[in-house]
Amino acid sequence: MAATETEQSALFKQARDAASVAYVPYSHFPVGAALIAKNGLVFQGCNIENASFGLTNCAERTAIFKAVSSGVRTFETIGIYGDTDEPISPCGACRQVLAEFCPEDMPVFLFSRDGKVKKTTVGELLPYHFKDLV
Ligand code: THU
Repeated sequence: MAATETEQSALFKQARDAASVAYVPYSHFPVGAALIAKNGLVFQGCNIENASFGLTNCAERTAIFKAVSSGVRTFETIGIYGDTDEPISPCGACRQVLAEFCPEDMPVFLFSRDGKVKKTTVGELLPYHFKDLV
């Protein structure tokens, strides 16, 4: 987990870098995510929009899907960067996807453009989330 200031600052930069390749011709609102796996690998994700707006994939889901499709499913932390005055807040769909793969106590660092940070957890972002009932 990104506990130290150095780790938190590295996470901020990785999430901000991820936003630099966002494909956002419609919203002009780049978002970046840096997902740290238990094995130390970093999966960066950006939002990828589409002319058919509903097909847009958020940065957080891009990062999770990159990791899972690379065979990695155990995660330590995620940083999410928005080009915003205050720390960004992930959408409901991304919260559900995070809850699928990440422990409830996993730290989530939400960053604004100038590095303001709000620290929360996957469980706090989506309490009582839907789970496979079968
Ligand atoms: N977006 C994300 O990538 N992550 C979020 O947590 C919130 C919203 C994207 C989707 C869309 O490309 C743009 O931000 C505006 O909604």
